[in-house]
Amino acid sequence: MGNDLLKAKMVVDKEFKISEIDPRIYGSFIEHLGRAVYGGVYEPDHPTADEHGFRQDVMDLVKELQVPIVRYPGGNMVSAYNWEDGVGPRAERPRRLELAWRVIETNEIGTNEFMDWAKKVNSEVMMAVNLGTRGIDAARNLLEYCNHPGGTYYSELRKQHGYNNPHNIKTWCLGNEMDGPWQVGHKTANEYGRLAAETAKAMKLVDPTIELVSCGSSNTAMPTFPEWEATTLDHTYEHADYVSLHQYYGNRDNDTANYIASSLDMENFIKTVISTCDYIKAKKRSKKTINLSFDEWNVWFHSNEQDKQIEPWSIAPPQLEDVYTFEDAILVGSMLNAMLKHSDRVKIACMAQLVNVIAPIMTENGGGIWKQSIFYPYYYTSVYGRGVALQPVISSPKYDSKDFTDVPYLDTSVVYNEEKEELVIFATNRHLKDLLHVDIDIRSFEDYQVVEHVVLENDDVKAVNTLKSESVKPHLNGESSVTDGKLSTVLPKLSWNMIRLRRNK
Ligand code: AHR
Repeated sequence: MGNDLLKAKMVVDKEFKISEIDPRIYGSFIEHLGRAVYGGVYEPDHPTADEHGFRQDVMDLVKELQVPIVRYPGGNMVSAYNWEDGVGPRAERPRRLELAWRVIETNEIGTNEFMDWAKKVNSEVMMAVNLGTRGIDAARNLLEYCNHPGGTYYSELRKQHGYNNPHNIKTWCLGNEMDGPWQVGHKTANEYGRLAAETAKAMKLVDPTIELVSCGSSNTAMPTFPEWEATTLDHTYEHADYVSLHQYYGNRDNDTANYIASSLDMENFIKTVISTCDYIKAKKRSKKTINLSFDEWNVWFHSNEQDKQIEPWSIAPPQLEDVYTFEDAILVGSMLNAMLKHSDRVKIACMAQLVNVIAPIMTENGGGIWKQSIFYPYYYTSVYGRGVALQPVISSPKYDSKDFTDVPYLDTSVVYNEEKEELVIFATNRHLKDLLHVDIDIRSFEDYQVVEHVVLENDDVKAVNTLKSESVKPHLNGESSVTDGKLSTVLPKLSWNMIRLRRNK
């Protein structure tokens, strides 16, 4: 196809609203896994460490990303975790065999230190409880420890540990990936549903202000999906507020066109989970709507082979250290678009994870820090994708790939920030060779002009960033202009773009 033939059209109107975007859609995740906590969050001997041993270079980049909520402490790790091991005097904390990742957990960092860190990076915490090896009792005790003001055993214990004020953690996960045979304490849907419902009941008796996430499927390929959601929600529907979704993609066949279309699978996943929630709602004649918490999403496959070499029972080894390519960043941009398009139901989402472990931020122990390719779409969408998600009318040429048919070359989401009088268009051109001309009718945005057109492009789909060189980084030379209520933009071949417009005052 010749360059000048690839054209798409869009109509954007401020009245075509999907939903107010819940800022928690830009959340992330820190698990006690690999070097996420030890070497990422915490490295007391590092030159940038603060008085608590937290790396300030890491905190600076986390703050730059404006991460509103961080899921903690797992992940698979939470399913055999004793939260009591991580509180109280450090010298008395036990070293444990951490079964999920087969490492040694030193427990130098636990609930209270992580709450301190989260406060410093301006994030809330989404706390997960262990429903693998434990249950109602450990969950209600942890909640009492964290949220009860005082005068009871666990709230007084927190005070003895130096935390006079409750942490007031609002969002709690009822276990992690309990459908997965790899999970310590894996359960059938009925076993999990009953336990989660009873745990939820007890937790809401301790603190009725909390919100709870019921475990959904670990990914779309699970043989129990979506029956798992239907059966578990049958038990948890009236007690929980969200159901979780997890999904990772990888370009295992080295087929870029097919790989970057994986966000279509993510959208289908979201739609199926919404339908399943609403089926249970109808079945129960319920007035309540369950929303979605996409609390693990990202690309994960680069490190799979390397991780098999890790010596068991090491301390904070370099696990899941995917080095992300340019094409991974393209897919991450589209995964963010997929969630924004469904922001009427996806209220929480966590890029998994945040530092060192399948992460946008990488560090060297005792050394420097760098931004992976995926940092950029996450950064721009988090910082500028705040407000109301709009539903554009799109007409785009399409292609077929191995797993997908009718993949639009133009993948986009649109956000209107009424307060700032800003219109932000996130747009990917999935064409591997041709640039894409897009004409956008923005009639209802009179007097809006382009402030910036950020472009992430690269001639090498496998280009990566390292500590020493940043090959994948955005530039500001995008071609976009407004004339007579029409925004004309050119999206370079295989590129992620953010076009930001503001009303002229
Ligand atoms: O994020 C890495 C792992 O992926 C998490 O521990 C688990 O929940 C998922 O399988």
